[in-house]
Amino acid sequence: MSIGAVVLAAGQGTRMRSSLPKVLHPLAGRPMLGWVLDALAGAGVERTVVVIGHGSEAVREALPAGVGAAVQEPQIGTGHATQVGLAELDPACDTVVVACGDTPLLTADLIGRMLAVHREAGCAATMLTADVDDAGAYGRVVRAPDGTVARIVEARDASPEELALTEFNAALYVFDRAAVTAALAGLGRANAQGEVYLTDAIEGIDGAVEAVRVDDPEPAAGVNDRVDLAACEVVLQRRLREELMREGVTMPDPDAVYVAAGVRVGRDTVLHPGTHLRGGTVVGEGCEIGPDVVATDCSIGDGCTVISAHMVGARLGDGAQAGPFAYLRPGTVLEPGSRVGTYVELKNTVLGRGAKVPHLSYVGDACVGEGTNIGAGNITANYDGFRKHATTIGARVRTGSDCVFVAPVTVGDDAMTGAGSIITEDVPAGALGIARARQSVIEGFTEKAAARARAAAQDATGGEHR
Ligand code: UD1
Ligand code: MG
Repeated sequence: MSIGAVVLAAGQGTRMRSSLPKVLHPLAGRPMLGWVLDALAGAGVERTVVVIGHGSEAVREALPAGVGAAVQEPQIGTGHATQVGLAELDPACDTVVVACGDTPLLTADLIGRMLAVHREAGCAATMLTADVDDAGAYGRVVRAPDGTVARIVEARDASPEELALTEFNAALYVFDRAAVTAALAGLGRANAQGEVYLTDAIEGIDGAVEAVRVDDPEPAAGVNDRVDLAACEVVLQRRLREELMREGVTMPDPDAVYVAAGVRVGRDTVLHPGTHLRGGTVVGEGCEIGPDVVATDCSIGDGCTVISAHMVGARLGDGAQAGPFAYLRPGTVLEPGSRVGTYVELKNTVLGRGAKVPHLSYVGDACVGEGTNIGAGNITANYDGFRKHATTIGARVRTGSDCVFVAPVTVGDDAMTGAGSIITEDVPAGALGIARARQSVIEGFTEKAAARARAAAQDATGGEHR
């Protein structure tokens, strides 16, 4: 059998109170819909069509390559949405998974299990159900006396007896395509919402209906508002952290670590509290990250130490160190064994092997050679008010404290600069560049100044003062 999927995502999501379509709200750094598409792909679904609403071009643009879209207009119910999706689905797909775009906790395992049950039972429909004491707004599963599923009744259409049922429809289905197409064709809109309900297809479908009744309702959770969104974030974070811990990552306080989907972390790395790994960040083995590190789209090698740092688009070679209180901006490359210290900002800068910028500095648009030590409080003046310019500092250079490098400027290998220098001209290799006013010394100044002060005070009191 060839398996396809229709993902229902045309609804308005009014309760999110957002200008962003509901299914695009991010969860662990990925749009909600992405989690559903990922679970489907992981379960071996070959073709997927997402049903989007009128005006949902943003959703269409967010779809990964190979995923189709079908526009449902007007949005008159989940049954109609399924018909619209099926019309766009590859005719070769004879088995169809129907899922909702707002159920981001679905897993590939669960979808795989549904497909296996469906295949073994050879039935017309397989649906996911679970039990909760109060099923709220969910559709209730009504079973026949023999225990088979008879129909689903929506909460708004249910009698008090039906509302008391604990088994609810989790809105994940596997259908025989021909059977569901026929069942949907016969549906009306005589219900409380005046909609074409996909759930009504269950009663009329030609063939057996199986229910996979799971003990844990968590994977079925749907997002309707931002409270639900936050609850799903908690679950996804827990899953991502547990996956990393099982792969050999230590987290002394897992609840205080946040990772985005797709982040990779090597064995024996410790993620301390307050660590946020975002975007496509990759961390190597044996690192100490945190406390208090935010890393977005960074690549961190093996054996690195990063404490209290904010890093975006930075690359740290093996054994590099950053922080505490470092800000590494895009284009920063710390070559192996180099170190950025306290209150230091780097941007578009390559710091050579073993080089150091230990204290209170800004280095931007620069290339610093290996083994060089940048003194405390150094600044690259890379911006002339109109354009950015480069600073090149060679290998094994020692710059004095409080130097400013007015770019474009080059300091040669093994050179030095004097403390407090404004370096505006190139310093050749091996030379000392010094650019500051000479100090004058006035001998006995303090005593002379004190004497003058005493004399002035005496004049002011008319000489009576002793
Ligand atoms: C639906 C089920 C209910 C189930 C619940 C689980 C129906 C009639 N009811 O109710 O039995 O317990 O999910 O969460 O199916 N959508 C469209 N087009 C439409 C209407 C909806 O694409 O015209 C999409 C929505 O974007 C959403 C999904 O279908 O992703 C479900 O729609 P929603 O209105 O949230 O249905 P529920 O009331 O939650
Ligand atoms: Mg819903």
